[in-house]
Amino acid sequence: MINNNYNLSYMNNILWQTIKDKKKSSPPPIWLMRQAGRYLPEYRAIRKTFPSFMSFCYTPEKAAEVTLQPLTRFNFDAAILFSDILTIPHALNQNVDFIQNEGPHLTPALNAENSSLISYDENKLNPIYETIKICKSKLNDTPLIGFSGAPWTLLTYMIEGKNTRNYKKTFDFLKNNPKKFEILLKKTIIACSDYLIKQIKAGVDLIKIFDSWAAYVPQEYFKLLIIEPTKQIIKNIKVLYPDVPIICFPKGVGKNYIQFCQEMPIDVIALDHTIDLEWAKANLPDDLTFQGNLDPETLLKGGNDLIEATENILETLHDKRFIFNLGHGVIKETPIENIELLINTIRK
Ligand code: CP3
Repeated sequence: MINNNYNLSYMNNILWQTIKDKKKSSPPPIWLMRQAGRYLPEYRAIRKTFPSFMSFCYTPEKAAEVTLQPLTRFNFDAAILFSDILTIPHALNQNVDFIQNEGPHLTPALNAENSSLISYDENKLNPIYETIKICKSKLNDTPLIGFSGAPWTLLTYMIEGKNTRNYKKTFDFLKNNPKKFEILLKKTIIACSDYLIKQIKAGVDLIKIFDSWAAYVPQEYFKLLIIEPTKQIIKNIKVLYPDVPIICFPKGVGKNYIQFCQEMPIDVIALDHTIDLEWAKANLPDDLTFQGNLDPETLLKGGNDLIEATENILETLHDKRFIFNLGHGVIKETPIENIELLINTIRK
């Protein structure tokens, strides 16, 4: 199947050239995780008109508008769909609320008793495909990145009900009821695959899979919980769309980036800020495009430290195909001037 927009050639877009034409670009392309978000006054102005974050995500006109805001302001080389990874638990019929200063709450939390009752209500996600169509009608030669959470990270939210940072309930569920856990995992893989395939059908040009809590998985479960689920999703996508580039972000997995990159049929590996770039160059497959990995705290601080850290990354990766990004999302207190300084340092 051919993605409608896929044959458009983004001849002038350096992110596309980097990934698809395997051309090194100097300066490198840049976009930022959470580039659409609360550090932008124009985002906050729209955000406050919505009673809930999820209702914002499901309002295509407004979600498209905030997707494009950071491009208007900073001329980034890619747009990322404005939405959230927790739309999948929502489509699996959990209630998802964002509580101020606490983060997401999912109810009822899933366990061995109630998890078999969940089912995937794919229609709940339709507004997101509308958002994609609106974005595509307004973006000229800038690619749009669609995304999903990886099953492990989604399951931690679905089973814990929030981010507990110990994921004890999730591991207890897995150890005490492995069969039921496996069924839930399978349902999540199917939902993520369907969601990403429909995002591509609606027009996204690339896919990114976020495994934000991958670091908490011990070695003995790494294959079962991190490698296999994401591999299955990618396989499902590739049957229909073998040419759509895929970015993976197994955040915090350290040396396991090696195994991850060896096993995953991807185009781009997103490196978190704990990864030493010399180590990555020496140990990760040569043909992968790197993405990363400025520490968001350094961007928050700004000044000479920011310039120096940015120049270090550029220098270390000057001989490598790479996309400039952060090692995690933009922190909401980050001053706009710091982002301008970052971009000027890269594009000067
Ligand atoms: O610009 C972009 O990056 C695109 C949109 C995007 C959001 N969330 C918007 C958002 C993306 C790609 C995400 C992914 C996401 N969401 C992840 C994976 C990446 C990561 O950060 O590790 C995770 C773990 C989530 C879950 C989630 N959503 C959390 C933990 C929070 C923060 C809760 C809080 O109140 O601080 C969110 C909310 C969220 N997602 C916001 C935005 C702009 C802020 C909420 C608001 O405006 O009220």
